[in-house]
Amino acid sequence: MAEEIDLRAAVNAISDVIQNRPRPLRNFDQIYMKAADMVLQSQLVARWADGKRLAFIGDGDAISVCVAYLRQRGILKYGPSQITVFDFDERICGAVTRFADHEQLKELSAQAYNCIDAFPKEGAFDFFYTNPPWGASNDGMSVQVFARRGMEAVGYAGEGMIVIADDDELEWAKRVLANTQRFATDSGFYVHRMMPKMHSYHLDDTPELKSCNLMIRALPGTTPKEPSKSITEPEVLNNFYGRDNHLRIKFVREKGRLDYGKASDSEYTLEQLVDPK
Ligand SMILES: C[S@@+](CC[C@H](N)C(=O)[O-])C[C@H]1O[C@@H](n2cnc3c(N)ncnc32)[C@H](O)[C@@H]1O
Repeated sequence: MAEEIDLRAAVNAISDVIQNRPRPLRNFDQIYMKAADMVLQSQLVARWADGKRLAFIGDGDAISVCVAYLRQRGILKYGPSQITVFDFDERICGAVTRFADHEQLKELSAQAYNCIDAFPKEGAFDFFYTNPPWGASNDGMSVQVFARRGMEAVGYAGEGMIVIADDDELEWAKRVLANTQRFATDSGFYVHRMMPKMHSYHLDDTPELKSCNLMIRALPGTTPKEPSKSITEPEVLNNFYGRDNHLRIKFVREKGRLDYGKASDSEYTLEQLVDPK
């Protein structure tokens, strides 16, 4: 049972983080978690990874930022010692870095990285967190790519939290959950906790679809089978983000520094009052 926190202060802090997030690109499965679930998820992640070096493999939701910020504000008394976000969207990395600079979150940083490339910091972390593309059209292969990078980040010796679809009616979601658990076992990890139907999303076509936390831990004696390497196999890259939506993009580049909390000039025009004279 989570201990009580100052809910008003926590929601206001999460609101600061949400203001700072770039708008989601649906093409790459950027679908953001709803605010109340972000509060609970951030508290859970902070407690789970207390004192650990935590790698985020992708983090459009900005749970990484919430975890660091809630602690810095004194709303949470615990949290990871180091947090690094690896994401192929430069807007997300930029938003994390700018927020960390502004709020002096010294333990938080971000690095542009595409998960089809070899992981640059193998074994440099204790825990990993990923909310990957959910793999509805490739039986969860996309989940496995992100989870594999997480396992490399912890050198096949730590723990991971994988956030994926959890729905009793959807066949694909059940298959992906089963395949992810099988992949974890085959990789020398075991599922030590599964928290069902925890989070909702700003998902227009299936607003009721929820996700779970699948928490995995390396078995004692697990070692990497091979060094991290890049992925080029078409069967992995195809349908990565959904049917006929293949992984073909290396980086999402930021076109200019946006102030995400404010409307951009391209969104509106101003019609002047008629001069009364
Ligand atoms: C795929 S989304 C999953 C939904 C999640 N709720 C979110 O929006 O963060 C998770 C993150 O993965 C990132 N991502 C997508 N494809 C990637 C890739 N090939 N390499 C690294 N990060 C990627 C996205 O930019 C996003 O921030």
